[in-house]
Amino acid sequence: MQCEPSEEQRLIETTARQFAAEVLRKVAAERDLNGTFPERELRQLAELGLLGVNVPEQYGGSQAGVVAYSLALAEIAAADASVSVAMAVTNMVAEIICAFGSEQQKQTYVTRLCSGEAVAGAFALSEPQSGSDAASLQTVAERVPGGYRLTGNKQWITSGDRAGVIVVWARTDGGKADRRNQSAGLSAFVVEGGTPGLTAGRPEHKLGLKGSTTVPLSFDGCLVPESARLSREGDGFKIAMVALDGGRIGIASQAVGVGRAALMAARDYSKERKQFGQPLSDFQAIANMLADGATQLEAARLLTLRAAYLKESGQGYSQKAAMAKLYASEAAGRICDMALQVHGGYGYTREYPVERYLRDARVQRIYEGTSEIQRLVIARSVLKEFSDHAS
Ligand code: CAA
Repeated sequence: MQCEPSEEQRLIETTARQFAAEVLRKVAAERDLNGTFPERELRQLAELGLLGVNVPEQYGGSQAGVVAYSLALAEIAAADASVSVAMAVTNMVAEIICAFGSEQQKQTYVTRLCSGEAVAGAFALSEPQSGSDAASLQTVAERVPGGYRLTGNKQWITSGDRAGVIVVWARTDGGKADRRNQSAGLSAFVVEGGTPGLTAGRPEHKLGLKGSTTVPLSFDGCLVPESARLSREGDGFKIAMVALDGGRIGIASQAVGVGRAALMAARDYSKERKQFGQPLSDFQAIANMLADGATQLEAARLLTLRAAYLKESGQGYSQKAAMAKLYASEAAGRICDMALQVHGGYGYTREYPVERYLRDARVQRIYEGTSEIQRLVIARSVLKEFSDHAS
């Protein structure tokens, strides 16, 4: 595996870094305070080709691959994690429509996602009673002449009130399957924002990611044509799992970006702040914190790039994506906490960005599969490896 990005990957990374520095970083603290949704910034990301980084050019994407996507997302996250989560979910939705959609779905929806016309994409899997246990979801898609009628409630939907294109999971088995077979009864549908019968609820008041909206969605007999279904009836769970495998590389990249921003803030502050007549960085206790943070960040970065590389080269990557997401999100939490500690009392205030980094990083251990679910995915594949060796 190449450890150094190619020229094209560097170009995408630099494009993202410049946009982050010139546009996002300056207003990130204000966005955190006011909770403004980054609609204009998402359109600008689209103009830069960053809403479909791993999407073929024929559907409006940049076709630059997964490693470039990971590098770009980390740059955006380092400046403003709120913007990066909308970018991550939009890329994920564009990719799954590319992977599982019909030609017409790709032409219609992927192009709208990549061009910014759709503003954002949303991924509507979770429900009030179905989070980690995704296969148990209860939204129903009932067959009616010409299509389906969707009825049910979704929860925690990133950009759900802004997205022009929403992928929605629902049961097409009439809810009859027993627990063991319930994943086979799910199908996925592409639903346009604003479809009659679809309403978004009040945005959640969250600890962090204040510029990203997270809403419940309600489907009240929402009619969609048969052509809205992605792939075949019953393929929904596998589509969700494949999407989440890729999405976890996105969240790991976001964690690398936020962790790096926190480490740099700690480094700069430790050089500038003096106590006992010397900069904090001259104290071994502080230098050790920076050393541990830098080592963990490097491990997170390499795990993430490795998972991205495996996906890009068409190899199995589910376990490595879970490892990257697990490790990077937990490392980012530790690095942000360390950075706040280095800042002392100032770190606990809005005068410095480290308290925002800490709040923004916390959800990375929860969304797109909790740390506990990542461990479950990793453990299952380790156990399977051992039984494969034994047989
Ligand atoms: N790729 C392809 N197929 C897969 C797969 C994968 N990664 N993982 C499982 N499958 C297949 C299995 O092979 C199995 O197929 P068969 O029935 O043909 O054998 C089928 O799917 C069922 O698999 P499991 O028995 O493993 O299913 P499970 O019910 O035990 O669940 C789970 C597995 C990993 C716990 C899964 O439910 C899961 O990932 N849960 C977490 C959900 C999650 O991450 N939610 C995030 C919400 S989205 C979000 O947060 C976005 C945002 O806004 C930021």
